[in-house]
Amino acid sequence: MIGRLEPLVIGDLELPLPIVQGGMGVQVSTSSLASAVAECGAAGTIAGVGLGYGTAENNTDYPGASRRALTEEVLKAKAITKGVVGVNLLGALSNFEDLARTAAAAGADFIASGAGLPLSLPSFTEGFKTRLIPIVSSARAAAIIIKAWRKRYSRIPDGFIVEGPLAGGHLGYKPEELKPPRPGQLETEVAEVLAVTQDCERETGAKVPVIAAGGIFDGKDAARFLAMGARGVQIATRLVATLECSVAQAFKDLYLKARSEDLVIIESPVGMPGRAIRTAFVDRILAGERVPFKCGYQCLRTCNPATAPYCIAEAMFNAVAGDLDHAVVFAGQNVTRVHEIVPVRQVLETIAQEIRTALPLPA
Ligand SMILES: Cc1cc2nc3c(=O)[nH]c(=O)nc-3n(C[C@H](O)[C@H](O)[C@H](O)COP(=O)(O)O)c2cc1C
Repeated sequence: MIGRLEPLVIGDLELPLPIVQGGMGVQVSTSSLASAVAECGAAGTIAGVGLGYGTAENNTDYPGASRRALTEEVLKAKAITKGVVGVNLLGALSNFEDLARTAAAAGADFIASGAGLPLSLPSFTEGFKTRLIPIVSSARAAAIIIKAWRKRYSRIPDGFIVEGPLAGGHLGYKPEELKPPRPGQLETEVAEVLAVTQDCERETGAKVPVIAAGGIFDGKDAARFLAMGARGVQIATRLVATLECSVAQAFKDLYLKARSEDLVIIESPVGMPGRAIRTAFVDRILAGERVPFKCGYQCLRTCNPATAPYCIAEAMFNAVAGDLDHAVVFAGQNVTRVHEIVPVRQVLETIAQEIRTALPLPA
């Protein structure tokens, strides 16, 4: 049973469990995982990237396929749960604006957006009450977004996710900053972003909760950030190892087997490095091999299909389909702590209990 915890308040949303499930593309965090998380009182996140991948119309009408699949996923999750379900969108997507408009119209409770500063995001969700949560890896990025949104839209973000160097997926760092990642860096970044959000709160009177992400596995990890003043934590890697995550069993088995020496930093056509588990495909990329591909739509603004070393969307889709020899399987550094596949509720209730034990009760 989930008992007393400080709720995470995002605008007018109140989450009894101060945990956000990190968005994971391509098709890792779909409605199945997001709705299970939301049912527990945390925030579920559907990753909006590449949801049309694997359908015939993806090749003939990429924007339409992406739009329809995102709407379907949001509605599916909303039919299962009355809890909080949002959408994650990479700023580097060529159809970012279209998908932000689609997510808002479909009724997503929030949009979390990283991989680029989402400076125009508020204009895409006008008329909807979609809460907007930028994902940043520095206080400077947070300050730039606040300044731009206040000036252009007279509004501020509904929260920030601060993602540190231990996270999975694409990372907002230079590759050399990640080999190895500096311990304690997320703590420093959270403290610096808190200084920026607290200034903003003083000036505007509004609340801007900070959510820490990257390397948080258990309640003790989470409590460290909550004690610093973060209002919530984002967890991704651990939630892949659940019954409700819809990826192929081979993907989950790779998580169970991964040791720290299997984790590598790769360069991605997204234009950012990413942390992945070694596979035959990843070894080819690391050896400098180019894996040519056909692309009819260019899903990333940052990718030139004629020169890109490989197709990241295809490699990530192969991962969720279980074709690991041709896959990039992203994972956070703490994947080495994953030892079992269990229901989402078990993971979240364990973490909640650990947070309560680690944090002193309020007087
Ligand atoms: C398989 C995988 C895919 C991811 N895909 C995305 C994505 O599409 N967009 C995004 O903003 N972050 C993505 N991330 C990052 C997570 O949302 C999250 O912030 C981060 O992994 C948190 O750290 P943790 O995995 O240590 O819990 C991904 C992470 C993983 C493991």
